[in-house]
Amino acid sequence: MIFDASKKLIRFYGRRKGRSLSVNNQFALQEGAKYFIKNSHLSLTSKLILEDLVEFKPKKTILEIGFGSGENLLKSAKTNPDILYLGADPFLNTNAKCIKEILNYNIKNIMIWPDDIRKIIEFFPSNIFSEIKILFPDPWPKFKHKNRRLIQDNFLISLYNVLKTNGIITLGTDHFIMKSWILEIFQNNSGFQWTAETAADWRTKPIHYVATKYEQKAINENRDPHWFIFKKI
Ligand SMILES: C[S@@+](CC[C@H](N)C(=O)[O-])C[C@H]1O[C@@H](n2cnc3c(N)ncnc32)[C@H](O)[C@@H]1O
Repeated sequence: MIFDASKKLIRFYGRRKGRSLSVNNQFALQEGAKYFIKNSHLSLTSKLILEDLVEFKPKKTILEIGFGSGENLLKSAKTNPDILYLGADPFLNTNAKCIKEILNYNIKNIMIWPDDIRKIIEFFPSNIFSEIKILFPDPWPKFKHKNRRLIQDNFLISLYNVLKTNGIITLGTDHFIMKSWILEIFQNNSGFQWTAETAADWRTKPIHYVATKYEQKAINENRDPHWFIFKKI
């Protein structure tokens, strides 16, 4: 059992595996293990993680939580080889898909945490990330499921700790409940400032972001993605 910083049990309600993990995908996960952050909860310490990260001597480090099939993670890493991208997602099928691309393109500046971000977030050194991206988090729209949403007061405190001052958190969502939830939770935390000045700011996708599967799905189904950027002050 793993607990968060406030000693609350971490429960993950999404899927970790599809109906089957093909032999091909199992092979990709084995091959890709070298891209994984040391994958044992027992050996996780800030020191070990820092050793993993500094090996890259990155100009900066960016965390993408729930990278899905990795469209955005892969494009960002290919475009900015001197930035280290850390992707976290517990869904093994899409992890395998992303790793195949990493291997195909011989990408060197991605590390993967193939699990729930909340299990590792407390172990990152403070002020390590320049940016954190959370694109189309599961909305869990029913009120009775609101505790399953990733964005929660406690989780935001953890994100605050690992983000550099003036660093940003970028969130994208097309779900009307998630839009107001994000604003509500961020408003509860005086450490962050919403950077939007006009409606165009939350209607315009940040430059260089590629459409992820869930963004494309929203557009195909005539839902408007909105983009929220919060700065750590
Ligand atoms: C709706 S999908 C969006 C995927 C991708 N970002 C996109 O836009 O296509 C949400 C993703 O978040 C991942 N996720 C959910 N809870 C998570 C957690 N606690 N830590 C890391 N990833 C998580 C899920 O496995 C899933 O891949």
